[in-house]
Formats: sequence, C-alpha cells, structure tokens
Amino acid sequence: MDSENPDREVLPTNVTPVHYDLTVEPNFDNFKFDGKVNIDLQVNDAATDSIAVNTNEIEIHGAEIAGTAAEKWATDAETQVTTFEFPKGLLKDKKTATLELSFTGTLNDNMAGFYRAKYTDRLTGETKYMATTQMEPTDARRAFPCFDEPNLKATFDITLISASHLTHLSNMDVKSECIKGDKKYTSFNTTPKMSTYLVAFIVAELKYVENKDFRIPVRVYASPGEEHNGQFAADLTAKTLAFFERAFGIEYPLPKMDNVAIHEFSAGAMENWGLVTYRVVDLLLDRDNSSLGRVQRVAEVVQHELAHQWFGNLVTMDWWEGLWLNEGFATWMSWYSCNEFEPEWKVWEQYVSDNLQSALSLDALRSSHPIEVPVKRADEINQIFDAISYSKGSSLLRMISVWLGEDVFVKGVSQYLNKFKYGNAKTGDLWDALSDASNKDVRKVMNIWTKQVGFPVVTVKEVGHQITFTQNRYLTTNDVKPEEDQTLYPVFLAVKTSKDINPLVLDERSITVNMEDTEFFKVNADQAGLYITSYSDERWKKLAEQAELLSVEDRTGLVADAKALSTSGYTPTTNFLELVSHWKTESSFVVWEQMVNSLFSLRASWIFEPASVNGALNEFTRQLVDAKLNELGWSFTKSDSYANQRMKVEMFASAGSAKMPSVLSASLKMFEAYISGDKHAIPALLKPAVFTAVARKGGEDSYEKIFNIYKNPVSTDEKLLALKSLGAFEDPKLLQRTLGYLFDGTVLLQDIHIPMMGMRGHAAGVHALWVWTQENWDELVKKLPPGLSMLGSVVKIATSGFTSFEAIDEIKDFFSKRSTKGFDQSLAQALDTITSKAQWINRDRELVSKYLKDHGFDKSG
Ligand code: BES
Ligand code: ZN
Repeated sequence: MDSENPDREVLPTNVTPVHYDLTVEPNFDNFKFDGKVNIDLQVNDAATDSIAVNTNEIEIHGAEIAGTAAEKWATDAETQVTTFEFPKGLLKDKKTATLELSFTGTLNDNMAGFYRAKYTDRLTGETKYMATTQMEPTDARRAFPCFDEPNLKATFDITLISASHLTHLSNMDVKSECIKGDKKYTSFNTTPKMSTYLVAFIVAELKYVENKDFRIPVRVYASPGEEHNGQFAADLTAKTLAFFERAFGIEYPLPKMDNVAIHEFSAGAMENWGLVTYRVVDLLLDRDNSSLGRVQRVAEVVQHELAHQWFGNLVTMDWWEGLWLNEGFATWMSWYSCNEFEPEWKVWEQYVSDNLQSALSLDALRSSHPIEVPVKRADEINQIFDAISYSKGSSLLRMISVWLGEDVFVKGVSQYLNKFKYGNAKTGDLWDALSDASNKDVRKVMNIWTKQVGFPVVTVKEVGHQITFTQNRYLTTNDVKPEEDQTLYPVFLAVKTSKDINPLVLDERSITVNMEDTEFFKVNADQAGLYITSYSDERWKKLAEQAELLSVEDRTGLVADAKALSTSGYTPTTNFLELVSHWKTESSFVVWEQMVNSLFSLRASWIFEPASVNGALNEFTRQLVDAKLNELGWSFTKSDSYANQRMKVEMFASAGSAKMPSVLSASLKMFEAYISGDKHAIPALLKPAVFTAVARKGGEDSYEKIFNIYKNPVSTDEKLLALKSLGAFEDPKLLQRTLGYLFDGTVLLQDIHIPMMGMRGHAAGVHALWVWTQENWDELVKKLPPGLSMLGSVVKIATSGFTSFEAIDEIKDFFSKRSTKGFDQSLAQALDTITSKAQWINRDRELVSKYLKDHGFDKSG
C-alpha cells in the first residue's frame, strides 16, 4: 500500500521489476496470442514467498523462478492481480530473481491491450486484421503479466513472431530478424527505462513513407495503398523532434520514430515511446480533400504525441493523479510548437475559444474535480482523461508562462526534465523547478489551482473611481453553498487600460482600488487567467463599444464570459445578445467563432422551445453574419490568407446553420454537382458546411447520396463527415435508419459517437438517441467496457442534449437500476449540464422572447 494514499490499489512491494524479456505470437485464426515473459526482479523483502503481478483476461500456463515451479496461483479478477505462491524460502538470501511466465491472451476487439483492428484492404477488398496495442492507462496487463504502475519503470526486450509477410514494429529498432519455416522472428533492441503503459508492438501488413531531415529515421506507416497520405505527418515529425530537442536541450533518446495509422482505435492517438499510434484520420492527410480544421487537427495531434516523448515518456507522473503533468504539458507544448511552425495561424489567439472554454465549462460544474485528484482503482483512471487534465492543465501552464515569461518558463521546464529523466515526478517537483528558474514562489500560487476544484468569478463594482474586485467560486448552476466557497484563489487581475496592464493580484476575498481613468479598462488582459469577470450593465455596454482597444483574446474572452454569465444568471442574457450585435464588423475569425459558438450554445438550450422563438434566433444569427458574408462571399482563391479562408468558412457555415436561403441553395447546388461527378464542385474547406446543410434540408434521396459517400468516400475525412451528417437528418424514419447502423457493422465501434453528435443537434435526434440508448444499453456496455473512456463520452452525448428537469428525473431513474462503474463522473456532469440549461431557460425565457420581438427578429407576429 502507498503511504500517501492508503486507499490506492497498488501491488505489494516485496519485489520490483528491473527488466522484461517478452515474446509474443498472435494467431489471426483463433484471435489468441501466446506469450512468454521473463521478468528480472529486485528482491526487497526476501522473507516473502508470494509474488503478485497484474493480469487481465490472461491465462497463465506456468510460472518458475530459477527452475522451481510455483506451487499455485490465483487471479483476483476484480483487482486484476495474479498472485504466485513459491516454495518457502525460495527467495531467501536473494537480491535478484527472474520470474518466468508462459501465458495465452485474447486478441480482443475492444481496442485495449493487444487487440485486433479490422479493416478492408484498399487494393483487394478483403477483410483483414492488424494486431496492435493500446496500453494506457491500465491495459498492458491484458497483453502480458506485468507490474502495471507508472512508477515501476523497467527496460524491455521484445520479440515478435508471425507469418513472414507481416511487418513487425515495437518501441525500439530491430536487433535481429530471422525466418524459420514460414515464420518470421523479430527481436528489438533493449528500451530505456520506461513505464508499462508506453510499451507497444504491432504485427500487420504495413507500408511506410519517410522523412530523412532528422538525425534518426522518421516514418509514417499505414495499410498498403494509404501510406502516401502520411508524408505531411512524416515531415512535421522530423521538424517537431528537432524543435523540442532544441527547446529542452535534451536529445530524443531513441534510435527511430515511427507513427502508425491504426484502423480501430479508441482515442485519437497514443504516445508509445518510439511507436506512436493514431486513429487513421488523425495521422493521414489528403491535403486536396481536407478542411482546414482537419489539417490543424493532424498537426495538433502529431505535435501533442511528440511532446509526450519528453513529457510522459522520459519524465513520467509518479501516479495517475499526476496525469495532468502528461496531458496538460503535451497540450501546451503542441500549441507552443505549432505557433513556431505556423505563425500565420496565430494559434495562441485561438487558444481562448478552443481550450480555455472547455476547461471553464467543465470546471463550472459541481461534479468537476481538482486537477490533482486521488485515483484508486483502474476503472477510475479513465475518467480523468478529460478537459480538466487537458484543458485546465494547459490553461494553468499558459497562465504561468505569461506570468514568468515564456523563456523563463521553458528554461524551468527543461531543468525539471533534466532532473527527473528516466524517472518519475510529482506536481510539486515542477513547481520547485519553476520557482528556481524564476525566483518567484510558484509553488504557493499554483498549489491552490491544482489541488482545489473550480475557479472564481470576479465581480467588478464601480463607485466613481473606486473599483472593488470580489471573488467567489463560480458554478454554472449559480447555487454555490458557503462551504463550497472557501477557497481564495490567487487571481492575476491584469487590468488592461489604455496606457498599460496593471499587474494587480487578488488573493483575498475582495480589494478596492482607486483608478484615475475609468473610461476604458478590462480585467484579465488577453484572457491569460482562469476565471470569469462579471461587470455592471453599464460597463458591458461600454466594452461593447471599445472593441478597437481590445486584443483578439480579450474580445473572445468577453463574448465567452458574457454568455457564461447569462447561463448562470449573473447577467441578463440580453447583455450577451447586445454585445454580439455590436460586433457585426468584427475582423477576426477567432472572435466570430466564439460569437457563433456561444450563440449556438444558447440555441442548444432553447432547442425544445417553440418554433417561433427558434426561428427568431436564426433570424438574429442571419442578420448578424449577413454583411460579412456578403462582403467575403464563399469562393476561394490561392491568394487568400489563412485567416481569410477561416473567416469565409465561418460565415458560410454560420449562415447555413441559421438557414440563410442563399447559402442553403448554394449548398444544394454544389452538392448536386458534386454527386453528378464534378469533383471540384465543393471547395474542400466548405464540405462540412455543405453536407450539414443538405442533411438539415432532409429527404430520403439526399440521405441515400450521403450514405453512398460514407460507403465510397474520397478520403477518411469525407467519410466521417458523411457519417456525422447522417445523424443530422430529422425525419424519424431516417433517424431510425442511422441508429440501426450503429451496431450492425456499418459504423465502426470507434466511430459510434460521430453520428450521435449529429443527432444531438436537433430536438428529434436528442429524443431518438436517448430512446435508442436505453433500449440498447446492455449491448453498449458489452461493446464499450467501463474501462474505456468511450462509454462515458457516449453517455454524455446521449443525455446532455436535454434541457428540462423532467428529463433529469428520467435519466436518473434509468441509471438508478444499473451500474455506473467507469462513467459515474460523466453522468453527473451531464446532469449538471442539463440542470444549468433548465435553469437558464426558466429564468430568461420571457426576457429573450421579448428581446427578439422588440428588435424585430420574431416574424411570427
Ligand atoms: N495519452 C493520450 C491517449 C489516451 C487517451 C490514452 C485516453 C488513454 C486514454 C494521448 O496523448 C492523447 O492525449 N490523445 C488525444 C489527442 C490530443 C491531440 C488531445 C486524443 O486521443 O484525443
Ligand atoms: Zn496526450
């Protein structure tokens, strides 16, 4: 047991692993694999004769130490531990021992451990399988018996055996390869000391493309016929490795770097050391047929996984509650490097709408959790791969990097990496390194942010020139109890004025300052801090007219804050509607995206309200985007800048979703021409908007056409777009048809959330999806075991579209009779989300209706 957390389920420490020698042979006929593993152990307590290792669905055939067989062994399926009992005194006087195990496992279809990924061969049309691994967080134990805890690092020798035509890959480069009979044996070189969750091996038919610009070989592997789409990622990989080496002053220590496209994959990508695996769409890119969002996503994923080669692989969190050290860092680093490579994208401007908002919206729920949360059991670990670890984690890093300066921050980080390389670290170790590098008390400031749940809302009260700033815990349900409002965060107020930025810190409940010039000021300069600011109605009005004094981040933040404060009732929703109405001439696509997203979120809460109100909200959106849309149009030229392209896409898509007649008819025309064979009829960048428009128009004929695209797409990107659109058809018959595809093999298990997302966008879909989920619940749980984070996502998508208290009762009732193991957090978060929407509508229903009528948006009379 662990001294820090007595509840933590960990293995006994009488022995610890030093080295694994592992041999695996998958069998594609019976979907089993045979394995042998010899584990060199350090003996810490020679008096104990039992040895416990993690296993999950593994059958042990034999266990020996130095020729002596174990007397018996038993597996506890609940804790996933197998304990071997050896004859008394076997370890007496021993400092080391080698545990030799032979076993059989299942090459499962659950995308966990050593599993089979099914696909159709591009060239022959045959159904085939790749054997591949996904170990994080606790599925290495499905692939081989091991000490499956992140701080029990060891070295690994891996050998793979299969039919000779298949490619063998693992973390390291090949040491030796030989063919005996019709079998191939590949042994890989010894890895550095590493955690079990980073072990990877693949046996499959694969081809690759390469980039030779970096010190070591950099490759992208894919199924034959698809590998040419890997060049973008291969080139980016070479560049990124060189960049991180320079930034951290630490060489990438492995002799090669492979990226592999995997056909069935539960996450987006996995950072296995030297052998990163990806969902196909997140690695392979057909540049001519991809939206800008797709290009940016591939870039982000590749850079994120490569950042992990240092953050996570070289220096690993000590235990899962430090997961944010892996994921928060990889997220921050991917923006940092992307900013370097693609300055034109100005990714940090996009950070506020992309990442900061996901952090705030999850952390505004009562069911959120602190960044450093105690995790005890395997099924709890998956639930923290969420916006708190990723987005709140990286937003805090962004906050510190602004506070210390980016150079000092990166210097401190590099010292931290150097100190803990090939080992494990805790959050406090990072704060110490940053304190050293900056001479600031980083630990004191940051402890509060990582150990406490939530974030504050700062209320700004003005009496003449006396400004009072007060902080309270923010909940989107606006029902904070006094005992939930005890934490005083160190809040960097960073008040922007027309002269400078005032570095005021609010670390008590309330402070009052005298401000000479109050004509213009905005709290939270460039939205670097993790909080929401609530102003008076007059100040909101003033800020709406001062756009030219505000940065893109400021304007994005104001829109997002105004919408959040409307949801929770700190400010009337009309303040938000007025603010966006004032910014029709906004020049940045980032701010536009936030305006439209925020409006969309309002529309999602109003989804079950009368058609007249929904129509008026669409009219509001149409009038908002009309002038910009007309100014820009929707044809693209080679000379369009990145920002210009994004802006055109944003306006076209927003107008389409608000049913602007000109955009709808243009979409249908492009679509028909495309279907008739004109491959260039739809600009790649507009394809998502065009498909959505077609689906929302509806009709069996269009459904058939989109379904055909799903079956015969020009790219994986297009395939998934078609899949999502299938969920957007509102006709009950077509909805049922889409739902029918979820389990009949038409939709891959890894993709079932995609059409669900389409359904969530309309009232009929929200209902149909929930009915389907209840009827198919047992099957869902079987297919998506609670250990995978996918079940939690599906529960969220299937429930959180509702907006009423009645729906909450119904959902609670359904789950009260079932186990919520592995997704209890997701469920609680979905219910909190519905509560906040229900409260919002009940509070502001009349106000919004009146506003829409008074301003002529409601044409229903
Ligand atoms: N380490 C994760 C993959 C993972 C996620 C493993 C959940 C186990 C459970 C990987 O580094 C990751 O974060 N992938 C992201 C992509 C990234 C760009 C945010 C993903 O899978 O979406
Ligand atoms: Zn990650």
